Amino acid sequence: MTWRRRAATSEQAQRAGEDFSTVVRAGDIVLLEGPLGAGKTTFVQGVARGLGVTERVTSPTFTVVRQHACHGHPTISTLHHADVYRIHHLDEVVDLALGELVEERGVALVEWGELAASVFGDDVLRLSIAVDDDDVRIITATTTKEDRREALDAWSST
Ligand SMILES: Nc1ncnc2c1ncn2[C@@H]1O[C@H](COP(=O)(O)OP(=O)(O)OP(=O)(O)O)[C@@H](O)[C@H]1O
Ligand SMILES: [Mg+2]
Repeated sequence: MTWRRRAATSEQAQRAGEDFSTVVRAGDIVLLEGPLGAGKTTFVQGVARGLGVTERVTSPTFTVVRQHACHGHPTISTLHHADVYRIHHLDEVVDLALGELVEERGVALVEWGELAASVFGDDVLRLSIAVDDDDVRIITATTTKEDRREALDAWSST
């Protein structure tokens, strides 16, 4: 199943991320794909806002993964924000152990996640951002997680 949402500005892309924070649950891994500058980090900034992260979220390109505390969220304590663009071997992604990290009331958002999709398996949420004319972004969500349908219906109809 796929769901779509349009974002004409970076603020709207952040809002799409903020609303997506009601779709994710502790233990989730979210793979973000889309060309350079598509708005992956922008979307993550919105998710972070929705999860109660108060510090600034920037591109983790050089650190690969950053942890952010989620303040006041009932079930999620930590947002793990990764960017695997510069990783050369899948082993390096395996070594990040994101699957284990999210078990501790965490969620992981992985930029360029499609490059390492085989590490994470099918039980993930996938977001693909396409750039349309006039900088409009079309954000497409896909997942095999049946229990997210309702939340994704709401997300895409906003
Ligand atoms: N509709 C839009 N949605 C999202 N970003 C937009 C939009 N219009 C313009 N922008 C701008 O595009 C840029 C997106 O940058 P961002 O760092 O979020 O992309 P990215 O996909 O994370 O890039 P990278 O591949 O380098 O990680 C920002 O400067 C943002 O302000
Ligand atoms: Mg980025």
